[in-house]
Amino acid sequence: MRRYDFALVGFGNVGRALARHFVERRASVLERFGIELALTAIVDRDAMVFDPAGLPLADLARWKESYGALVAWPGMQPAARPDELRSRGIEGLVLALPTNLIDGQPGLGLARAALDCGLDLVLADKGPALHALPELEEAAARVGASVGTSATTGSALPTLTVLRTWFGAARIDSIRAVLNGTSNLILNRLRQPGVSYADALAEAQREGIAEPDPRQDVEGFDTAIKLVILARGLLDPALTFASVERRGITDLPELLLESARRGPERLRLIGRAFRDGDRARVVVAPELVSPDDPFHPLEGAEKAVTFRSADLGDLTLSGGASSRTGTASALLRDLLAAARARR
Ligand SMILES: NC(=O)c1ccc[n+]([C@@H]2O[C@H](COP(=O)([O-])OP(=O)(O)OC[C@H]3O[C@@H](n4cnc5c(N)ncnc54)[C@H](OP(=O)(O)O)[C@@H]3O)[C@@H](O)[C@H]2O)c1
Repeated sequence: MRRYDFALVGFGNVGRALARHFVERRASVLERFGIELALTAIVDRDAMVFDPAGLPLADLARWKESYGALVAWPGMQPAARPDELRSRGIEGLVLALPTNLIDGQPGLGLARAALDCGLDLVLADKGPALHALPELEEAAARVGASVGTSATTGSALPTLTVLRTWFGAARIDSIRAVLNGTSNLILNRLRQPGVSYADALAEAQREGIAEPDPRQDVEGFDTAIKLVILARGLLDPALTFASVERRGITDLPELLLESARRGPERLRLIGRAFRDGDRARVVVAPELVSPDDPFHPLEGAEKAVTFRSADLGDLTLSGGASSRTGTASALLRDLLAAARARR
C-alpha cells in the first residue's frame, strides 16, 4: 500500500464536488489500486486548512456553502505556497480556480510553481492549459511529474492523454465537437414549447454545470478553449486562442430556432479544429444538424467529439456524464493516474 497526499486550490462547485466524490471513492481506490489517496490541504481564496491526518471534507463543504468562505473555520492558516505544501508531504495539486481567459492567472502562476517543486498538477481551471500546456508538460517531464487535463476538455469524454496514446503516430486531420454541456442543454430545451432561454440557463446553473460566468458557455468561449487545448495537443502546438473565429448562441436567428422546433434538424453549438496548410484553425458556431449526424441524438447536456484521421478513419465519442460528479470523477482519474505513475 502506498499513500499519496494531495491539495485542492479553489473550493467552489467543482472543488466541493471533488471533495464529496473523493469521500465516496477513496476506499475503493485503496481496495482496487492499493493507493491511499489523502486530501490534506484545501486552499480557499483567503486561507488554507491543512491536516496530515485528513480533513473533515463533508463538514468543510457544508461550511463553505453556509458561510461562503472557509476563513472562520477553526484552525485556518495562511495559504501555503506550492513548495511549502511539498515540504508537508503533498505530492499532487488540483487547481479548481475560475478560468481566466486573458492570461490564465492566478492558476498559471500556481501551476508553474507546483511543477517547479515537483508536484503533480491536475487541472479543472482551463486557463493554465489554454495558455501554456506545452510548457507545463515540458516542466512536468523535467521533474518526473504529470499534468492531468481531463476536466479541461470535456471531463467524462476521454482526455488528451488517452487520445494521444490512442492515435499514436496516426495523423489527425480535424476535430469536430459539441463540448459545452450548458449550451447543448439550452439548445435542447428551446425546442420544447414554453421554455425560454432564461429558464434553460437557470436549469444549467442549478445543475452546477454552467461556468461561474455563463457568458463563457453561451458565447462559445468554453467550446473554443476546449478545442484550442485539444488542437494544440493533437494538431498544432502553436495555435493561439486569439485566432479562433467564434459565435455563440445568444443571438440565434428566429428562423434557425423555428427550423429546430418544427423540423427534424437540431441546433448544436459546434467547434471545429482543422488543418489549414501548416497551421490549424478553430471555428465555433451554432449549426443545424440533420438526423443522420452523430451529434443529432445528444440529449440534455451531453457532449460528443469526432476525430477524423486519414490513417484511422473517423472516431466519434459521445455521451458521458455532464455533471459536477462527472467532473469530480475526471479529476480523481487524473489524480489516480499521477499517483500510479509515481510508484
Ligand atoms: N462546473 C463544471 O462543471 C466544470 C467542469 C470542468 C471544469 N470546470 C472549471 O473548474 C473551475 C472551477 O469551476 P467552479 O464551477 O467550481 O467555479 P466556482 O464555483 O466559482 O469556484 C471557484 C473557486 O475558486 C475560489 N478562488 C477564486 N480565486 C481564488 C484564489 N486566488 N485562491 C484560492 N481560491 C480562489 C473561489 O473562491 P470564492 O468562493 O471565495 O469566490 C471559488 O471557491 C473553473 O475554471 C471551470 O472552468 C468547471
